[in-house]
Amino acid sequence: ANDGYKLWLQYLPFENKAITEYYGDYLDNTVLLGKSPTHDVIQKELELAYSGFFDKNPGNISRTSVGSGLLWIAKFGDLPKEIRETITDHAQSLNDEGYLLHYLKGKLIVSSKTDIGLLYGTFALLKKIQTRQKLEDLHEISNPKIQKRLLNHWDNLNRTVERGFAGFSIWNWHRLPQHIDQQYIDYARANASIGINGTSITNVNANALVLTPEYLEKAAALADAFRPYGIKVYLTARFNAPMVLDNLPTADPLDPKVQQWWKDKTKEIYNYIPDFGGFLVKADSEGQPGPHNYGRTQADGANMLADAVKPFGGIVMWRAFVYNEHTPTDRIRQAYDEFKPLDGKFRDNVIVQVKNGPLDFQPREPFHPLFGAMPETPLMMEFQITKEYLGQDTHWVNLATMWEEVLKSDTYAKGPGSPVSKVVDGSLHNYKLTGIAGVSNIGTDRNWTGHHTAQADWFAFGQLAWNPEQNIDNIGEDWIRMTFSNDTEVIKTIKGIMMNSYEILVNYMTPLGLHHIMARSHHWGPGPWVTGGGRDDWTATYYHKANSDSIGFDRTEKGSNALAQYAPEWKETWGDAESIPLEFLLWFHRVPWDKKLSTGNTLWNEMALRYQKGVEGARWMQKEWSKLEGSIDPERFSHIASFLNIQVNEAEWWRDACLLYFGQYSKMPLPAGVEAPK
Ligand code: GCU
Repeated sequence: ANDGYKLWLQYLPFENKAITEYYGDYLDNTVLLGKSPTHDVIQKELELAYSGFFDKNPGNISRTSVGSGLLWIAKFGDLPKEIRETITDHAQSLNDEGYLLHYLKGKLIVSSKTDIGLLYGTFALLKKIQTRQKLEDLHEISNPKIQKRLLNHWDNLNRTVERGFAGFSIWNWHRLPQHIDQQYIDYARANASIGINGTSITNVNANALVLTPEYLEKAAALADAFRPYGIKVYLTARFNAPMVLDNLPTADPLDPKVQQWWKDKTKEIYNYIPDFGGFLVKADSEGQPGPHNYGRTQADGANMLADAVKPFGGIVMWRAFVYNEHTPTDRIRQAYDEFKPLDGKFRDNVIVQVKNGPLDFQPREPFHPLFGAMPETPLMMEFQITKEYLGQDTHWVNLATMWEEVLKSDTYAKGPGSPVSKVVDGSLHNYKLTGIAGVSNIGTDRNWTGHHTAQADWFAFGQLAWNPEQNIDNIGEDWIRMTFSNDTEVIKTIKGIMMNSYEILVNYMTPLGLHHIMARSHHWGPGPWVTGGGRDDWTATYYHKANSDSIGFDRTEKGSNALAQYAPEWKETWGDAESIPLEFLLWFHRVPWDKKLSTGNTLWNEMALRYQKGVEGARWMQKEWSKLEGSIDPERFSHIASFLNIQVNEAEWWRDACLLYFGQYSKMPLPAGVEAPK
């Protein structure tokens, strides 16, 4: 049975004799040199892969130099001299995590400077084989462009997962530290295979208990298990932990006793986890304590923790997701208003973690205006891999499409050609510290992610973290080949669905720049009618402001002027309701229902047609998928087919709910081609 547990590391059998012989030549003559726990991991992975490829027990992998080796896997310094000499030039351009794949006169060489680089190189080679690429003439030098590549787990100590839709937390605190579950190892393998090198294992809405010895011992056991895979453990720090755990009267970051408490606590953590990565902090947001409680700035808070981890080489990832309901300005302005004046005021081991957009992981948002606006403070990207606002577990939507859109957006910080990707990889502002985080979508479900296809989002996140300018078409194709099949029709069909899925979802959920019209609190399903309830900034009407004349949020200088937080070039593109690309129309403008848009339709008709198009798109996905019956294993086929039924139903639900609700204001009839609500 295929329950998808093996993710993209299926190591599917070679299809025929020719392919078997082609790769067999190399694989049967593998030499792996060197010794370390990571080398043991490499050996095991090769054995696993070979037994999958050949569908039998693999032959011996030699651990000593033999003249007949055709595939050499060794750190630069471990290679025999005659081979090493041929790659000296290339080795120079490798960084500490980089790898080299090099074909030379019948021999294939995988090399690196470090053990971890070698593991990455091995996975890169296995990917070539999994995707059935030619090995001759192979020459690839690859260094990650971003230093800290993390998953953020929003996992609570009671194993519930905030915004998790794939079961419970995989961290079984009860059985730790004694029991290291195979799932932890497979988690580490999967992450290493896509270059992820850090994991923050606890919810940003943090429980201070994780900082007590009882839990540190457990976290240390995970860190030990992950170490050979190059993955560091990070923890979320609850800002008032000194009060909660040790009854200090304050958590004021400028109070010397508080500072000392964090220094002692940090030292204790490093006793358990010598290579502890550092802290991730959500402060002064959605009820979390923070420096504001003491009239201090976000920099004061971050710097206190930074000073504590500095002697041990740790970092602080301080989240910019700071807003509250008492600030009278447009919620989406608040992070920029707060952080922009603090540029340059953070210690050099602080990195500010910024969500992709200024609101909150909506199906479509413009990029966050802090990107490009903080030349003196390293910023890292936070993407949400879990689909909080995107249909949660049952909708198929390829997130790489959204991420690429954000990464490619031009900040114009240094003129045209200053994309978000170059802010995040550090090259635009010369950041010394770089990072990217993805809010994890995995849990105890047999297939990790609930929807089989949500594995693709985890995979793509890792690939883009390694190189944020990678082509997402290729990423998608690799994932399909490694996960399902190398059959051309299968690839074409699945890729077609993936590459269209994002636009389809945006159409049936939030077309034309609509946002935050999901049902309150759980954020599943439509709820454009949601008002009040004590917090306007969590309600839909705050964002769409529909009345009988118009709909949309005016963010130009006549409104909240959030638009001014972007470079002037964006004011030109987004500032004019006549010429703004329609995908952000209602994000930035209030528009009369009967206004004629560039498409020739009135706003109301355009909205209705887009909702309809989204529904038709979901039906199209379903039809495309049905073509694959018999071409992939029946378990995964029917799992996905049943989820697509749900997706189609929910797309109709979204369309009907939104059109019925907004129709009360527009009072206009549905245009031809839009189905009447059920
Ligand atoms: C969203 C989400 C919360 C989460 C928060 C965050 O608001 O709904 O559950 O805690 O983001 O990113 O901190």
